[in-house]
Amino acid sequence: MPATVFVLDFGAQYSQLIARRVREIGIYCEIVPYDATWESLKARQPVAFILSGGPESTLVEGAPDCDEAILNSGVPIFGICYGMQLIARKLHAELVPLAKAEYGPAMLHVDGAGDPLFAGAPLESRVWMSHGDSVVKLPEGFVTLASTERCRVAAMGDAGRKIYGTQFHPEVAHTQIGRAVLDNFLHGIAGIVSDWKMESFVERSIAEIREKVGEANVICALSGGVDSAVAATLVSRAIGRQLTCIFVDHGLLRKNEAEQVVKAFRDVLHLNVIAVDARKRFLDKLAGIEDPERKRIIIGHEFIAVFDEEAAKIPNVQFLVQGTLYPDVIESKTPDSKAGHKIKSHHNVGGLPEKMKLALIEPLRALFKDEVREVGRVLGLPEAIVERQPFPGPGLAVRIIGDITEERLALVRDADAIVRAEIDAAILDPKPWQYFAVLTPVKSVGVMGDGRTYANLVAVRAITSEDGMTADWARLPHELLERISTRIVNEIQGVNRVAYDITSKPPATVEWE
Ligand code: XMP
Repeated sequence: MPATVFVLDFGAQYSQLIARRVREIGIYCEIVPYDATWESLKARQPVAFILSGGPESTLVEGAPDCDEAILNSGVPIFGICYGMQLIARKLHAELVPLAKAEYGPAMLHVDGAGDPLFAGAPLESRVWMSHGDSVVKLPEGFVTLASTERCRVAAMGDAGRKIYGTQFHPEVAHTQIGRAVLDNFLHGIAGIVSDWKMESFVERSIAEIREKVGEANVICALSGGVDSAVAATLVSRAIGRQLTCIFVDHGLLRKNEAEQVVKAFRDVLHLNVIAVDARKRFLDKLAGIEDPERKRIIIGHEFIAVFDEEAAKIPNVQFLVQGTLYPDVIESKTPDSKAGHKIKSHHNVGGLPEKMKLALIEPLRALFKDEVREVGRVLGLPEAIVERQPFPGPGLAVRIIGDITEERLALVRDADAIVRAEIDAAILDPKPWQYFAVLTPVKSVGVMGDGRTYANLVAVRAITSEDGMTADWARLPHELLERISTRIVNEIQGVNRVAYDITSKPPATVEWE
């Protein structure tokens, strides 16, 4: 079991980022609820605790609190924003609400230049603040290490007890010295050695999965996407043929995708795969449905039905593998509902575990997409899978606006293949995160040869993004757009016009639906 840094999560927007930064420094890190007890964690070799920020004020009655024993454990502690204020409160410091909350960039001045927390950091630098209360009188044993114009105690520390806090957020990219501060705390102050890498994550997960599963059988829904591919491969490394992957071809996949997925997993990765051709079943259910939410619901239900039927044929199934990532786990914003870590409603197999009474295995739950790709590489997955762009579970159904028919599916599939082939062949920096074609319900007049046409409008969408939560439209070269447009109109019957989507998210979303 590796040395672990625990982030006590007080409901901050940035808890996951803190954990990620610690892992980037090469130290294993996990997020736990803010009220996790010392008793429950002490056996897991905690080498430091980081108390996250949070939306509440410590000055409010009943504000989220942490276990006193953690504070007295002697393990080094770092509090960020709310975390720092809580430490201050618990150690009898004085806090006051600010007349106006400080939010956004500020200039930090380092007062305690000799303190190891700011070793190597410049005296002045830009930091990111977001708080409504301020520490005005320090707890005993502490010194002020940094300040901003509006915040007298922007960093404090007690070198003897190895308890530190910053009012600014070291985990966000806007804080110039953020990485140095975390590095200094973890290495210089807490004395932790960086010995964690993705390989260790893989080994550790394999051991945990083996122990959890025992002799039982496990199933996994393969979608062809990176997440389920990595999760399934990881689990199969742990328990081999006890894992059965079920691949449901709902007929809403991209061109040749179903064959490619089955081939990659069966022949290259040697996973145990059951492929179900459910294309007709889905199309029949979707006939005449135009409302996007209804489409999603129908696809979700049907998926569960097919999956359930297949799973019922396998004896002693007790677990379901899901490729849930950190961004899929919606962090409840108020610590009160901390138990309510919920999967986004659009997440593909959300209803399965309850219906089938299965326990979940979610080995990627703590990771971000690029970390998952790294795990995929460590596991030896082909680059074509590791680098695959995100593709929604309901597939092309969300890229056909209006009725879904065989003909319209074929049309969007062909257009999509052209968009992908052309963008893949172009050398672009940055490479768009996602790019695809959308079949709109619009028909318009055109002229081809000598004749009038009245045909479909295809929209092309290409976005840059870090995580799909926000996105910008990709500034593709005009020549590339021209090639895409010419090819779509020339090669696909029934399309006479191509439009390029130049909206960011927000206000638009990535998918049109
Ligand atoms: P939106 O359209 O909400 O999409 O801006 C954000 C990202 O999520 C993907 N997406 C999905 N992924 N199941 C998924 O696994 C879904 O039902 C789903 N719907 C949207 C979308 O492609 C984009 O990357």
